[in-house]
Amino acid sequence: MRNQNSRWAIILTQAPIVVLMWVVGVPAGEYHIGSGLVCAQCHILHYGEGGGGEPGGPFPYLLSHSTINGLCLSCHDGSDPTAPDVFAAVSMYDATGDEHSAAGYFAGTDVSSDSAHDLGVTDLVPLRTPSTNIALSCASCHDVHGNGNYRNLVSDPDSSGSGTNVVLGTDIFEGVAPAVPPTQEGSVAAYKSSNVGYRSNLSYWCAECHNLLETNEDGVTPAHYKRHPSDVSLDVAGSHTDPSTWVAGDSLGFGAATGDGLEGVPRVRFQEATATDYSSAKTVASTNQVFCTSCHLAHGGKYVSCAVWPYKVLDPDMYSPCQQCHNQ
Ligand code: HEC
Ligand code: HEC
Ligand code: HEC
Ligand code: HEC
Ligand code: HEC
Ligand code: HEC
Repeated sequence: MRNQNSRWAIILTQAPIVVLMWVVGVPAGEYHIGSGLVCAQCHILHYGEGGGGEPGGPFPYLLSHSTINGLCLSCHDGSDPTAPDVFAAVSMYDATGDEHSAAGYFAGTDVSSDSAHDLGVTDLVPLRTPSTNIALSCASCHDVHGNGNYRNLVSDPDSSGSGTNVVLGTDIFEGVAPAVPPTQEGSVAAYKSSNVGYRSNLSYWCAECHNLLETNEDGVTPAHYKRHPSDVSLDVAGSHTDPSTWVAGDSLGFGAATGDGLEGVPRVRFQEATATDYSSAKTVASTNQVFCTSCHLAHGGKYVSCAVWPYKVLDPDMYSPCQQCHNQ
């Protein structure tokens, strides 16, 4: 990514927008906030009065479940048709041409998986210094009572004191918003992966925890970088990329579906730093940037390392995303 200075410039220029949104009472988050924060979805005030919830209560904070992951997944595992399904196996989006939501899905709770962020397992955070162990829950990344961020993302997931805001309508755009009150069709349309366009800050947000990637460290000339960079556009002068192939979509890296046995995958996601709305965020151009979720799904998915394609195995798709941008 860029350097620290530009990072702070971004945060500072956005701060007044966030403040303004709170003042006029229009939270950028959409659900589990404001009038969409329904206490009874998660809390039972006097456990035992027949109000549902997991057997064995009452539980801390008057929650209806013994763990936060169990609570959130009681709806987000596909059993509530209006709640975006983030737990394997996911079929909610099948009819839309998308396999999953923007963040993809978890493999399980209290089990280690190499294809998703682990929930409830104490793990070392990779690409982080100093090394830190953490047992992830939904609340590590999402504010359970909502906030001004896109998807209620917590601003400071590693509690280091700095923090990154990711604001809907500024950093990230949705083609269609979810229905109010929630409906199945409304949630399928709003949360499917292709309904989201990206401009900025999500990579910085991931790098709150994976802080070795916070800056794109320089490599030794003629190489540009030490690790694969993020938030860099394809058209930088002297770049080791192939912007015209990216724009035309005509290398062998482009294909109809991932994992269909034929070389080529659908165009990977990108960021557009000049975007002002959904349509400009989705416009293919040589100014598009590679970012963390070009290659990864935030929750996880089918493939090793939360990758959007089978990378570490012999598969016709194994280098397809690389070929979309580099065409070697
Ligand atoms: C009683 C069911 C239920 C429970 C329990 C529940 N959710 Fe949700 N959640 C929903 C529904 C329904 C939606 C989609 C509503 C909409 O956007 O119109 C939603 C949406 C969301 C969104 C997207 C919100 C946005 O503004 O973009 C996030 C993130 C989320 N839930 C996280 C959580 C987390 C974390 C927990 C546990 C602390 C949780 N949910 C518990 C039903 C539930
Ligand atoms: C989507 C699920 C969800 C909803 C809806 C929800 N809560 Fe919570 N609440 C939680 C979770 C999870 C915790 C425990 C947080 C933790 O352990 O960090 C919590 C903790 C609390 C606490 C104790 C800790 C604190 O933050 O002060 C209070 C009080 C509370 N909730 C009140 C409310 C009220 C009032 C509402 C409705 C306006 C509400 N909650 C709606 C999930 C929810
Ligand atoms: C709250 C801290 C936190 C945040 C924020 C976070 N991660 Fe992670 N990440 C972890 C931890 C802990 C692990 C190691 C355990 C595991 O595999 O789930 C991990 C593992 C990973 C892995 C390796 C997964 C595997 O199974 O091998 C990838 C890839 C990854 N994260 C990418 C991301 C991306 C992309 C984002 C932003 C969308 C992100 N992370 C945000 C804590 C975080
Ligand atoms: C490591 C951080 C992390 C953890 C842990 C996490 N989320 Fe998310 N979640 C994200 C990010 C980042 C997004 C937005 C991804 C995007 O737009 O590319 C998201 C998006 C969502 C959405 C919107 C639909 C979608 O998938 O895009 C829901 C609902 C949601 N998360 C629920 C949950 C629930 C429930 C849990 C716990 C079972 C959870 N999340 C745990 C980071 C996390
Ligand atoms: C161009 C594609 C690409 C981009 C962009 C990218 N990654 Fe990765 N990442 C990968 C691949 C592929 C792997 C699997 C193994 C490897 O080659 O390192 C990986 C591995 C990881 C791991 C696991 C490392 C380990 O030791 O287990 C983490 C964590 C991670 N990435 C986080 C991120 C974050 C955070 C960002 C954005 C700041 C990011 N990645 C950007 C492709 C990418
Ligand atoms: C969405 C576009 C995109 C994807 C997908 C992508 N890259 Fe890149 N990659 C870039 C950009 C942009 C740069 C920075 C270009 C530069 O400065 O030379 C870069 C840089 C690199 C570099 C370092 C160049 C240098 O001089 O330091 C290598 C090596 C590389 N990518 C390999 C890969 C591989 C392997 C994959 C697939 C696993 C991949 N890339 C996927 C856009 C992408």
